[in-house]
Amino acid sequence: MISPETIEAIRSRMDIAELVREFVPGLKKAGRAWSARCPFHQERTPSFTVSPERQTFHCWGCHEHGDVFAFLMKIEGLSFYEAAERLAQRTGVEIAKRSEFMTPADQERLRIREALACARDFYHGALLKASEAAPARDYLVKRGVSAGSIEAFGLGYAPRSFDAFIQEAKRKGFGADLLVAAGLAKTPEGKSLRDFFYGRLLFPISDAKGQVTAFGGRALDDAMPKYLNSPETPVFSKSRTLFGLFQALPAVRKSRRVLLMEGYMDVIASHQFGVTEAVAPLGTALTVEHAAALGRYATHAVVVFDADAAGLSAAVRGAETILHAGLDVRIATVPDGKDPDELLQRSGVEPFRRCLADACDLVDFRTTLALKGRKAELTPPEKAAVARDILGTIAQSSDEVLKAEWVRRLSQRLKTDEGALLRQLQKEPGAGKARPSAQIDRPAPRSQGPAGNWGLPPADRQILALIMRRPALSAGIREADWTSAAAARIWQALRALDASDTAWTSRLMAALSPEDKVLASALLVGESPSRDPEADLAAILGRLRRERRLREIEPLMKGDGPVDGAIVEEYRKLLSELKGSRK
Ligand code: UTP
Ligand code: MN
Repeated sequence: MISPETIEAIRSRMDIAELVREFVPGLKKAGRAWSARCPFHQERTPSFTVSPERQTFHCWGCHEHGDVFAFLMKIEGLSFYEAAERLAQRTGVEIAKRSEFMTPADQERLRIREALACARDFYHGALLKASEAAPARDYLVKRGVSAGSIEAFGLGYAPRSFDAFIQEAKRKGFGADLLVAAGLAKTPEGKSLRDFFYGRLLFPISDAKGQVTAFGGRALDDAMPKYLNSPETPVFSKSRTLFGLFQALPAVRKSRRVLLMEGYMDVIASHQFGVTEAVAPLGTALTVEHAAALGRYATHAVVVFDADAAGLSAAVRGAETILHAGLDVRIATVPDGKDPDELLQRSGVEPFRRCLADACDLVDFRTTLALKGRKAELTPPEKAAVARDILGTIAQSSDEVLKAEWVRRLSQRLKTDEGALLRQLQKEPGAGKARPSAQIDRPAPRSQGPAGNWGLPPADRQILALIMRRPALSAGIREADWTSAAAARIWQALRALDASDTAWTSRLMAALSPEDKVLASALLVGESPSRDPEADLAAILGRLRRERRLREIEPLMKGDGPVDGAIVEEYRKLLSELKGSRK
């Protein structure tokens, strides 16, 4: 979290035209503003403008706009914090020491990162110098891994010792609990503390900033498993991490392309041979989080996999996940069942580049696959099955033009009616469907089951039932508290009544439309009486209003922008109050 004052200090020391010119050399004076061809979309005539007065940019073509922070984030694929850090450095503004703002959990994460950095240095030193590591060094030579790659990826070696690293970490002041929390040490049942990695070649795994968060350890013999990865820790989640991302970022940002491979060795070989946009998940399927991370830096992806791998369906699923995240995706097949590492080491970079250049459109690829080995003329049910299968992939895209184009091609290849395919596509789930978003510790949305609610949202029904017990309470309710229009209408009618009138129920009924009357009478007879309507109403309204406020400020908290400290405080308070009020 960076304070608003710091943000302002940076902003006031920056000149946006100067920053933009570094990325857009064609920026020219146009009246009081500057203009150029937009760096964020393809265009022939300049519609991108920079206003020195407002210190903002705006593209009339693609509607990108914002300030210095927004520009740097967008052009370099940075988070707000990263952009602010860079501009702070440039302007000499100091970002207040983070520890002042840190919670105990943040502090633990920081210490874990320090322990991991210490481990990386220790293991890297061991690989380079320890006599015991000679077989590991020989192994790397045999696999064609250069000294440059060993440096660039910080490869290491974990000695065959139960506590070589623990001893080193102790000297550096790291405690046993911290090492366990960092996944660097473990206490097997009935045994004492020992190093997590033993006699393995280590591949440091880092985050997008290059900070080590975990290790992958390869056995040098037949030890199982072949690769042992760090356990999940507060700084490491396999499903969010991509090996090689930090090393790949400069090239990915430039070309807006990323290459997805299967293994550590593939990524390293690819970089070593000059194809430096390669990353890999950590031996798991590609997740929605991985794809979202890629989307921050790249607009297109190539999934590279070996032809006869069992990983074919994983490659297709991975590609679909990437497509769903809004990236353009292609599939490259490495010939002869080799993995990229083998192809590069044996045949050099040219055949590898050819294989990338020949990467196939995902839908074409799937169609070819589905038609492979089938007779030229499909039976109608076969055709329908293939169509549904491929439409499932097409539906992952939210680009209507792209989808239409794919459907057109599919109709040609299947020799079937385009309109029928389009109608079938509408039935596919998946398109634009909201994926579960980041898990945040907040109450689940209230269930909207129609049963027993007479079609009213539960909160509306509860509130109505209470004010119908005691009409005077309707004064404490605001228009905005209602979710449904029907409930709001009944409330309006109720409020207009004289609360002391003993015949108010019949007057209410007379004031309502037939539909609302049904609702109101059902509520009058259907609800079990509350012992304390006033208190119950206050509790329900309190919760509703907090939830509504939470929904308002949540986008701020989840966004990358600066958030006012008061809002952060309010957000925390809302979350804890809402947790307490749920039964
Ligand atoms: P591979 O078996 O293809 O390994 O597993 P590789 O990267 O090509 O390594 P070499 O060439 O055999 O040395 C692909 C990836 O799956 C994960 C690792 O991330 C590996 O890079 N994996 C594999 C594991 O996590 N555990 C294993 O036991 C095996
Ligand atoms: Mn391999």
